Amino acid sequence: MNFELFNPQDCAPDTEKAFALFPQLKKFYATLGNTPLVEVPSPKGKASIYAKFEFENPFGSVKDRTAFGLFCDAINQHDFAAGELKLLDSSGGNMAKALAKLGNMCGIAVQVVIPDSSPQPLIDTLKADKAIVTLVDRNQFLLGVIARSQQIAHEDGSWTLLSQHLNLVNTAVHQHATGAEIRRQLEGERIDGWVSAVGTGGTLSGVAAALRQDNPQLIVWGSTPRELPYGTLSAPNGEPKFAGAGGLGFGFRQPFISKLMPQEPPFNPVSYREALSAMHEFHQLTGVKIGASSAANWKTACKLAETLSADQRVVTLFADAGSDIDREKGREWFKQSEALTV
Ligand SMILES: Cc1ncc(COP(=O)(O)O)c(C=O)c1O
Repeated sequence: MNFELFNPQDCAPDTEKAFALFPQLKKFYATLGNTPLVEVPSPKGKASIYAKFEFENPFGSVKDRTAFGLFCDAINQHDFAAGELKLLDSSGGNMAKALAKLGNMCGIAVQVVIPDSSPQPLIDTLKADKAIVTLVDRNQFLLGVIARSQQIAHEDGSWTLLSQHLNLVNTAVHQHATGAEIRRQLEGERIDGWVSAVGTGGTLSGVAAALRQDNPQLIVWGSTPRELPYGTLSAPNGEPKFAGAGGLGFGFRQPFISKLMPQEPPFNPVSYREALSAMHEFHQLTGVKIGASSAANWKTACKLAETLSADQRVVTLFADAGSDIDREKGREWFKQSEALTV
């Protein structure tokens, strides 16, 4: 596994060439980001919590931003006179969906490498968008999909590997778009805490870099699946866990966290059961449908808010809206946990 960071990037990629060659990307860009930042339920008498509703992005997740950034970067670097551009990457799901949709929109070939535990509706969507789908044993999880995508790129040089776990465009997009939006939306209000789940760590590290500009003392917490936490020395596993996040296993640490952040943040472990229960609980409290990583972030933000006072603010991010099937499972588990506490 090659963990060498490449493609140094101190701003989001230039869109000029991409818009000139693919005018449909300009239309897409007009609908990307600028998602609402909404105050959500928080512990009484403690810090308030604001969540960035990333499920309002055009394809339904925060990964629409990263996919667009990586797409523009690949277009900028490609010599179209020399041949077709073909894009390849590994994904936990949302990135695959966004890449396939952008590829279909532009007539650019896309191959995605995802775990074989991915839900069938996702695989159907990817295929409908003409993506080549390569499935990897779920027990190898993120490490397995990253390694396989690198192997495919090595064996067939016609594929351009986007490498979302290593390409600094990922974290730059979150610093200069997602993070910049949050700063604008809470202009004049001090942000004391920032919470996010870590898949690649692009969101956590990029937004932290943006928010630290206003508050160098910003408290950063990660949320991570209890079944395979960030930095774990254990082997990866195929156990159900909240989606879009997780440790790599064998002590590997996502480079955007271990190499780019001034210090590694503490991680709050959230089990699959807790995350799905919280999906239901949040829906019941607010009427808003959020995904499992969003629910894990909400629970972690509540835990951080408990340590802060009423005049302080925690910001978190809701990456996607999740599925009704998961929310239904969460409803059962929520009822069982309520019954236990009565
Ligand atoms: C549902 C969900 N939550 C959280 C994340 C974390 O994003 P990042 O890769 O920026 O760490 C992702 C990324 O795919 C996701 O799909």
